[in-house]
Amino acid sequence: MSDDYTTIDCLSNHQDKEVTLAGWLYNSRSSGKILFLIIRDGTGLCQCVVEKGKVPDELFEQLKRLGTESSLTVTGLVRADDRSVGGYELAVTGARIISPTTDYPITPKSHGIDFLLQHRHLHLRSHRQWCIGKVRHTLIDAIRRFFNDNGFTLIDTPIFTAAAGEEEQTLFEVDYFGSPLQLTQTGQLHLESAAMSFGRVYCFGPTFRAEKSKTRRHLTEFWMVEPEVAFIDLDGLLELAENFVSFIAARVLQNNKSQLETLGADIAALEKIKPPFYRLTYTQAADILTGEKTQKFLAEQLTQFKDQKQQTESRIAKLEQQQKGKIKQFQQDKIAAELIELRADLAEIDTKIENNPKHAELAADFRWGKDLGGSDETIISQMHDKPVFVTHYPKQAKAFYMKTDRDNDRVVLNFDMLAPAGFGEIIGGSVREDDYDLLLQRIKDQNLDPENYSWYLDLRKYGSVPHGGFGLGVERTVAWLTGEKHIRQCIAFPRMMDKVYI
Ligand code: 4AD
Ligand code: MG
Repeated sequence: MSDDYTTIDCLSNHQDKEVTLAGWLYNSRSSGKILFLIIRDGTGLCQCVVEKGKVPDELFEQLKRLGTESSLTVTGLVRADDRSVGGYELAVTGARIISPTTDYPITPKSHGIDFLLQHRHLHLRSHRQWCIGKVRHTLIDAIRRFFNDNGFTLIDTPIFTAAAGEEEQTLFEVDYFGSPLQLTQTGQLHLESAAMSFGRVYCFGPTFRAEKSKTRRHLTEFWMVEPEVAFIDLDGLLELAENFVSFIAARVLQNNKSQLETLGADIAALEKIKPPFYRLTYTQAADILTGEKTQKFLAEQLTQFKDQKQQTESRIAKLEQQQKGKIKQFQQDKIAAELIELRADLAEIDTKIENNPKHAELAADFRWGKDLGGSDETIISQMHDKPVFVTHYPKQAKAFYMKTDRDNDRVVLNFDMLAPAGFGEIIGGSVREDDYDLLLQRIKDQNLDPENYSWYLDLRKYGSVPHGGFGLGVERTVAWLTGEKHIRQCIAFPRMMDKVYI
């Protein structure tokens, strides 16, 4: 059946020929004797122009009344048109309505985020969600390609686990035939054992964290890719991570430029994502946070936020004025949609204005030994135009498995990669402690039960080697690449601490 239809992404091959598209009515507008139907078919959007007299009158009337998201086929001649979405339009000669829709709940007037998440099964059809989904798809393909082409073997690690890989407080417990087990927070520990067999391995799957965090950076179920390499040191890991992230950013730029443009991503900034990335030690990062330059930077930011607030408020006032005038329905809808966006922007700017002094205070009070908080990461990442590695964190702030720096036993050989422009951490990784006694001590120091880690300790008994790896969060990376503010938009069906909608 699908052979009979042309897809919108292939229209360039059919210029001046008649084709039939099969899809859904995304949007429509009529101006007397002409109907403009925007059709989406899963591969893109296409404007289809129906002129009265060129199709039977009855069909013209049916199409004119057709509700958003009705399914249909449309036949017509392909014309190049620069002004049209996708560069082509269809001069319609016929159409067949498959399933008419009335009262589609999501209207162009736009809705609050709660409503849209409750209707995620439908909202996935929005152009924005479609663009994000396409970017995510490329990203995942690029992730696999990078590791597959660089000598890594894919190992699927288990989802039911008995040992915590990260903080114990964030484990989800499940009843496993009467005994407790946990949903995995990371595939890392199992992956380390596979690295001792295959050398270079990676796992890629969903991970779970019962993180009591309602921030824009936290989901309770997210996808993580984790490479693990035998015989590697910290410098080797940083190089691998910057090559990897540069590769995936380039693939997304190559395959999804038009989606990135639609989403308003900063394409010029993404084009800069090439090695080497910036490198800071944790101690340098701490000095930056408490330094005068940072306070000045934050004060300037506050002025910018206040300017933005003023501009947004005056735009809102102008639109509200226009709304009261006599204008066409579609213009009313357009204004209403823009107003919802602007009010959401305004709320966000207000939050930034409110948070700025708090973040400035947190930064000024930062003391060596604490983990970097979300706002600290944001500040460091805002001060850079390319990703930043922060390395050598204090031992007390980090996971038990990280290798103690033999030159300075207060710190570990780890790194976080912070995406630029305020997006913050997208990768966490480290060299692993490969000494049996030191690892056992760290397990005990963190009040973990050595029994649960006996198999993990075995790896240090039988041919232990220097090794390490990292984990990249897919949703955070999609958010960074697309410029999306909240990672809940970067997975089809998000799971958040306070709510699971559908
Ligand atoms: O820094 P994390 O906790 O590191 C690990 O899990 C290591 N075991 C990885 C490894 O070395 N193999 O998490 C890695 C990344 C973070 O940088 C972030 O991108 C993402 O996973 N992440 C989350 N993404 C969304 N929601 C959450 N709650 C996340 N927690 C971590
Ligand atoms: Mg981390």
